Amino acid sequence: MDLSMIREAIARQRPGWSLEQMFYIDPVYYQFEQRSWLARQWYTLAHASELPDVGSFIVRDLLGESLIVVRDSERIVRAYYNVCRHRGSRVCTVDGRAGAFVCPYHSWSYRLDGSLRSAPAMSPDTDFKELGLHPAPVREVGGVILGSLRGNPQDIDAVEVAAEAMLQYHGIPGARIAARRSYPTRANWKLVMENFMECYHCYPAHPEYCSTMKHVEVLARKASPEAAESYEREMERWFREDADPDSPVAPRKSTYTDAMKQHTSRAPIGGSRQTQSQDGKPVATLMGRQRKFDGGMGVFSVRPFAFLALLNDHAVMFQFLPAGPEQTDVHISWLVDQAAKPADVDVERMVWLWDVTTVQDKAIVELNAQGIRSCAYQPGPYSLLEPGPAALIQGYLRELEAGWAA
Ligand code: FES
Ligand SMILES: [Fe+2]
Repeated sequence: MDLSMIREAIARQRPGWSLEQMFYIDPVYYQFEQRSWLARQWYTLAHASELPDVGSFIVRDLLGESLIVVRDSERIVRAYYNVCRHRGSRVCTVDGRAGAFVCPYHSWSYRLDGSLRSAPAMSPDTDFKELGLHPAPVREVGGVILGSLRGNPQDIDAVEVAAEAMLQYHGIPGARIAARRSYPTRANWKLVMENFMECYHCYPAHPEYCSTMKHVEVLARKASPEAAESYEREMERWFREDADPDSPVAPRKSTYTDAMKQHTSRAPIGGSRQTQSQDGKPVATLMGRQRKFDGGMGVFSVRPFAFLALLNDHAVMFQFLPAGPEQTDVHISWLVDQAAKPADVDVERMVWLWDVTTVQDKAIVELNAQGIRSCAYQPGPYSLLEPGPAALIQGYLRELEAGWAA
């Protein structure tokens, strides 16, 4: 891999403009960023309900690696590389529940804490202590299981402090998954995330989203100070008059300045809507400790890849998983309160908005990727309505450079 070429390319990118073609399509660049940057980010691996019991485990792919994620005997969530310490076989192939992991090849077995428990016919001087499964960073924050390959677990301490109360308030730790859909997208992760972080495209691409999110419609049409001011006025009025005063999150005006970090906010959907359904009426029972339908939408994210939208009666958990130079796996899980019975939940009305919107996003992002493959593609300038992608790309380049300096 010619690192000097990549280094020069990073230094050459123009702030406020999209990147040169190779950042979006080149397998060599992807290999480089996978090791140097993607491996340090945090991703939503699962919801807590996917590991309900001691010994519950799931097998998940992350950046080309296979991880075993398990709830151990202390109910702590742990993750291990799914690679046997004998001769490297996959240890688990399907989700399940067990007291130990047994490799299918020669039956080495591992405890839930990853340590080697038994290995038949090994010489007496075999040191079992040095042959445990290799751990991967993982943390459960308010019911959201966040994982990484080389992320610093201390970064998640700050996330936990900031977000735990909000996720508890919304009932996320005890929620259950009522629906789950996947949207594999043939595009580099940057195109998927750039698109997710701006609403410049909302008006042309998402009629359903704009008809539901009234304030976004105002902002997406025109980047004017008047539109922004009217939004701020409505937000302040909502917090004063309508919002549940018990909600732990205060309004935040600027939501796009720290594109790489944890973010929590709460704002009204608008238009007197109670939730993100087509008619604005509830699709399930209230979640968590919320006591009334105040029409608010909370956001919890660890940017750029982990994102939850928190409505009064359901939550939408997005998983964005880079899966190759031109492939990103997008999964959405819709969560409802643990006490909500199946008859209390109208699944089709609940999934309507984000299903139709994500199908649209997949289509426009794949068209974007097709255009970028052309010899005629050149970087273009971000608009005033795209501070999210501009900050994402700047932060990404800055961190790549800092990694070099370190
Ligand atoms: S490779 Fe796992 S026991 Fe041999
Ligand atoms: Fe979109």
